[in-house]
Amino acid sequence: MNHTLVTHSILRWAVLLFGVLAVLAALSATFSKRPYRNSDNKLSLFFMIACDLQLLLGLVLYFTGMWFEKVKAGMGAVMKDPSERFFAVEHALMMIIAWLLVHIGRSMAKRADTDAQKHKRTLIYFGIALVIILAMIPWPFRAPGIARPWFPQF
Ligand code: HEM
Repeated sequence: MNHTLVTHSILRWAVLLFGVLAVLAALSATFSKRPYRNSDNKLSLFFMIACDLQLLLGLVLYFTGMWFEKVKAGMGAVMKDPSERFFAVEHALMMIIAWLLVHIGRSMAKRADTDAQKHKRTLIYFGIALVIILAMIPWPFRAPGIARPWFPQF
């Protein structure tokens, strides 16, 4: 059993939980024009921490697994195989972009002058990051070779 993979698989649910809660809070706050609360900052912080941990585990999986070896052996062959291309290129690259958006979004919200602007910036950056994350998870309904279980198999 690969403990890093099991943790990476479970932690996706924390990323999704905090991501969805942070986006919903920013959405309702934008409509109701309520102030930026401590709970908004906490949700945003938890989402960022979950993404940070996921990036760290992902990098370990990438460099200790066979993915980086495959890239080194030849990018051409990787790009021709849909499942290799998914994990070695698409998943890693797009998740790093999502992680960047979460960090930029949090610092942009911090630097905003008004509460309305804080909510709006959170909504836009986190919203786009969440869509990318949802699209790039190897859900069980994806093509064979890419599909992974909802929960890790013990
Ligand atoms: C929010 C960010 C991320 C989420 C939600 C996520 C989610 C997942 C999930 C659900 C799996 C399948 C686990 C399983 O087999 O049960 C997976 C596999 C994988 N992820 Fe991520 N991931 C994220 C970021 C990253 C990043 C940034 C990297 C690399 C830089 C990465 C590298 C990998 C690799 C290499 C695998 C396949 C591991 C293997 O089977 O050898 N992930 N990821």
